[in-house]
Amino acid sequence: MTQQTPSRDRVALITGANRGLGRSTALRLAAEGVDSIITYRSHAEEAQAVVDEIAALGRTAHALRLDTGRTEDFPAFVAEVRRALKDTWGRDTFDYLVNNAGQGTAATIEDTTAEDFDALFAVHVRGVFFLTQALLPLIADGGRIINTSSGLARFSRPGMAAYAMTKGAVEVFTRYLALELGRRGITANTVAPGPIATDFGGGYLRDDEALRAHLGAETALGRVGVAEDIGGVVASLLAEHTGWINGQRVEASGGTLL
Ligand SMILES: NC(=O)c1ccc[n+]([C@@H]2O[C@H](COP(=O)([O-])OP(=O)(O)OC[C@H]3O[C@@H](n4cnc5c(N)ncnc54)[C@H](OP(=O)(O)O)[C@@H]3O)[C@@H](O)[C@H]2O)c1
Repeated sequence: MTQQTPSRDRVALITGANRGLGRSTALRLAAEGVDSIITYRSHAEEAQAVVDEIAALGRTAHALRLDTGRTEDFPAFVAEVRRALKDTWGRDTFDYLVNNAGQGTAATIEDTTAEDFDALFAVHVRGVFFLTQALLPLIADGGRIINTSSGLARFSRPGMAAYAMTKGAVEVFTRYLALELGRRGITANTVAPGPIATDFGGGYLRDDEALRAHLGAETALGRVGVAEDIGGVVASLLAEHTGWINGQRVEASGGTLL
């Protein structure tokens, strides 16, 4: 089975959707008629604001707290997701998993500590792998998974080695997901954003005009991205007519370092 069933409300689960790219994805999906379970790590009030914005668009959302670096919390989180699905949508499955949550730290290879390295891999690799594993029974057959990589898995910048390595792992994981889940009609793809001016990494790009200009000059479209550039890309890979795209990496960078 490769087609989804459009007759019921479609539900996405988006990690790290209280701000940035996850928020943009949740709002874009809502505009296209998709409900969401959004997760936040520490900003409950931002998550509630996103829930309210989605309601204003005429769709339903539910916010749950999750630290994707804490695999030991995943069984309780899955139980909460089950409850939310039952209570809010009368379902025991959802349709789309968007693994988006993440944080960035920059350090040269010489300066990267084992703690920094492990923290990045805990969230971006271990967390993505085991959260997806834990949620697999709840993803409807015919559903979709989008993982979040980075342009930095294709091009390189000093200070980003450990972070970019995690994104390389995410891209490989995505191909294996596509391979193993094909029997259930579930597709898996990676979206790899270029530089986007968000709160990411403490907002170093958003707050540095000279850096934005420098990176924008390396981009065919002449600027760095904003969060809204990404939500539509993710939503389009979750649209009913794009289900034949599977196991792919889609870079959304405005044409960076072509
Ligand atoms: N911005 C870029 O230039 C860029 C480029 C390529 C790829 N990406 C990737 O895109 C994704 C989103 O980035 P963004 O720019 O939207 O960043 P952002 O604005 O800093 O938002 C990050 C989101 O992830 C959540 N989060 C962070 N660490 C978490 C953890 N351990 N457990 C659960 N949630 C966590 C945050 O929750 P709280 O706010 O509640 O802490 C927030 O919702 C990340 O995977 C990042 O690697 C970003």
